[in-house]
Amino acid sequence: MKIVVKETEQEASSYVAEIIGTALREKPGLSLSLPTGSTPVHVLEDLVRKHHEEGLSFAKASLFNMDEYLGLGRNHPQGYYHFLDELLYSQVDVDRARTFAPDALDPVPEHAAAAYTKLIQDAGGFDLIFLGIGRDGHICFNMPADSLHPYTHLERLSEKTVADNTRFFDDASEVPTHAITIGLKLVLDSKKIVLLAIGSGKNDIVRELLASESITTQLPASFLRLHDDVTIVLDAAAAAGIELA
Ligand code: PGA
Repeated sequence: MKIVVKETEQEASSYVAEIIGTALREKPGLSLSLPTGSTPVHVLEDLVRKHHEEGLSFAKASLFNMDEYLGLGRNHPQGYYHFLDELLYSQVDVDRARTFAPDALDPVPEHAAAAYTKLIQDAGGFDLIFLGIGRDGHICFNMPADSLHPYTHLERLSEKTVADNTRFFDDASEVPTHAITIGLKLVLDSKKIVLLAIGSGKNDIVRELLASESITTQLPASFLRLHDDVTIVLDAAAAAGIELA
């Protein structure tokens, strides 16, 4: 895994935006999966800036949410499709017909999950996936557990994750406890993977991830060690005190 440390959150985010921008320029029809939450905010801002100032085009790209809260529709203000719509799709030249998310309103979530796996596979998988990491080591919403899932599935969120996500909701009781998320095989099938971790809150999990070469279901991000093209981008706060080879 290639590790890149930048001083500030902004610099680390710009580095990731440049990886995405370069991939899009090289392949306008890029198949790209993007995260939500705090981590991608400055990356998405920088992609919007690149669109306006540098003519970066998303018109031919396919964009995939990696997860969606169960029960939240595309227009729900706390939903993840809505998040990417607000911060990226509505501000660039994305073709909305090529923006995808699991159908979290499907009364049978397993059907929605299977349909999403098929959609991704029919698209040929991802060229690039940009990941965040949870403080418990989750990627997408693959939570630490005794076993993990390869494909899209319904996941119960860990207590730590539900607690972390309350900051996006007015009332803690509104925070969804389940999500539909892509699984580890769909992540690892991506041709290229970039993971961004920023801030001191991610320091412990980044230390744990980099401390050992072992792969464990208790730290889902450790599965990235199975992939040959992974770049982990950190700011100084996330990398603090960690010895990097
Ligand atoms: P965050 O979430 O970007 O809001 O810290 C990370 C994650 O859950 O993957």
